Amino acid sequence: MTSILLAIMGWDPKGWEQRFRALAPQHDIRVWPDAVGDPADIRYACVWKPPAGLLAGFPNLKAILSLGAGADDLLADPELPDVPVVRIVDPDLTMRMTEYVVLHVLMYHRRQRLYDAQQRERRWLEHSQPVASEVVVGIMGLGVLGTSAAQMLQRIGFKVVGWSRTPKALPGVEAFHGARGLEPFLRQSEILVCLLPATPATRGIVNLDLLHKLGRHGALQGAYLINAGRGALQVDADILAALEEGSLAGAVLDVFPTEPLPIESPLWGHPKVTITPHNAAQAVPQTLAMSVLQQIDRIERGHPPENTIDRAIGY
Ligand code: NAP
Ligand code: GLV
Repeated sequence: MTSILLAIMGWDPKGWEQRFRALAPQHDIRVWPDAVGDPADIRYACVWKPPAGLLAGFPNLKAILSLGAGADDLLADPELPDVPVVRIVDPDLTMRMTEYVVLHVLMYHRRQRLYDAQQRERRWLEHSQPVASEVVVGIMGLGVLGTSAAQMLQRIGFKVVGWSRTPKALPGVEAFHGARGLEPFLRQSEILVCLLPATPATRGIVNLDLLHKLGRHGALQGAYLINAGRGALQVDADILAALEEGSLAGAVLDVFPTEPLPIESPLWGHPKVTITPHNAAQAVPQTLAMSVLQQIDRIERGHPPENTIDRAIGY
């Protein structure tokens, strides 16, 4: 029997606990903070936003498993034990993010906010609708989530360009990479979809300078931002400034430097901003617990875990 710890902050741990117990009755499931038992027993810690320093208290850990796709919060722990950190890669989580991106790209492409406003005024007025193939969607981050969103947008007919750290070859996607590839990528992008991890290299990347480089004179006649990566990527004041001056026509924000978004943030009431509470791709235990347990099973069988975080690059 292997002892597995669940340490979850910010989400209700009940669903995870029930799912782990149902799927892995052979394991000893402990739940932080009330039912941890002897810390020396714990071999695996399955976590979401655990307090810094908590994991250092488990001397016999074999691996840490993030219950989400991003592990930036974990890496911020200066006392993080030196064991593999595994993140979630799962078709359900990936498809949820693809749904979110497609939903909001289409909202801009089909000018749905404008029609909503007209409906409130009982106005029957048609606006021109560009061909999808003339609209360029730029995906920042061509990893698991960015690739899936890019492929779905392509199927709908959009022109898709992408940007990543290392070179990528994705059929039908014009791919840019590295510092030199950023500007040509941005110049084409009318709808910028941000699906980067938060790392020392990406913090604050969505700033006024970057927003000024977006393609504002393409088929949509304006530039739009969708950030569902991490809040640390964006500078809220710069997004507001770009919206005010008109260099940005709209923003969909699922993530923020401070979460929950403070009540006094002007983003809440801005007419060109759409806000969701960091749930673009909700981590659902019904589907994801199995992925986590499969990685534990791999390690127990002597195989290296998949989807490990490279601490040197931060994702
Ligand atoms: P991933 O597979 O690791 O992909 C990350 C992508 O970002 C890769 O293409 C990587 O380039 C690129 N990248 C990283 N650093 C870069 C840099 N400095 N310059 C250019 N490109 C860089 O991650 P994923 O599974 O797609 O997830 C992406 C992020 O989405 C997660 O880290 C998390 O923060 C966020 N997320 C948000 C939600 C939500 O609900 N809002 C849910 C899940 C995940 P390479 O391909 O060259 O390595
Ligand atoms: C959610 O933000 C995740 O990283 O899965």
